[in-house]
Amino acid sequence: MAELLTRLLQELIHADARACAALPERRVQLLDAHRCERYFDGWPPGFRPESYVLPRLMKLRESGMPQHDYWESLFDVPLIVERFGFNRVRGNVAELGCGYGTFTLPVAASIGGVVHTFDIEPEMAERTSTRAREAGLTNVRIVTRDVAADGFDLDPGSCDAVLLFNILHGEHPVELLREAERLLGLNGFVAVTHWRTDIQTPRGPPADIRPSPAQVVKWAAEAGMSSVTPTGAMDLPPWHYGLKLTRT
Ligand SMILES: C[S@@+](CC[C@H](N)C(=O)[O-])C[C@H]1O[C@@H](n2cnc3c(N)ncnc32)[C@H](O)[C@@H]1O
Repeated sequence: MAELLTRLLQELIHADARACAALPERRVQLLDAHRCERYFDGWPPGFRPESYVLPRLMKLRESGMPQHDYWESLFDVPLIVERFGFNRVRGNVAELGCGYGTFTLPVAASIGGVVHTFDIEPEMAERTSTRAREAGLTNVRIVTRDVAADGFDLDPGSCDAVLLFNILHGEHPVELLREAERLLGLNGFVAVTHWRTDIQTPRGPPADIRPSPAQVVKWAAEAGMSSVTPTGAMDLPPWHYGLKLTRT
């Protein structure tokens, strides 16, 4: 019985891996092995998941944070919240990387639903949690999670917006965009901000991995976001641009 289940599981993994050939190999194996684990409600006896479940992806490159006050001096946060129109969002929002909660809190204060925010660093999750509590916000759910490896723990179509702020220079931006789009309902949008590539900025990832607005739109197309319409890049002074990828 164990042998039969193992063989079936291997076939499922390999079939899924072929179907997802566009994804990097190790992520395919990790995600699909987890999917199979759910399918079987645990591993079948005698199955050795180590052969399939490869090491987790780590914190995305160049995603460490400087001092809190310095970080928040680099953005006009109310302007960014206003330009993306978060005050018109009635449903839920997901965010990859809360950091200090710089955008988590003002977005939560603007929307009708819940902000589900995820950070790989327990310290960042804790700081954002404390800030949300101190601000009296009850619509923030904070999860310590490696989103690059495990995705968001949210259902398809469950969000009106997904925030990818200052993060798309990490590894596998196409997969992150695909995962963000998965959460969107009709008229939902992926909100991207990043450091401008056409000027010198006081901080930000190195030029060779810093995506321009055109690069993000190209990645969105590679991610198969064919139902998504990008607005032109917004200027978010002093140092950033914004892109809104709306599901139409
Ligand atoms: C450059 S900061 C940006 C924080 C916030 N989005 C902002 O703009 O203020 C990136 C954040 O993403 C988190 N992060 C990096 N890799 C991650 C991963 N794989 N899963 C979840 N969070 C991650 C980091 O810990 C960090 O807090």
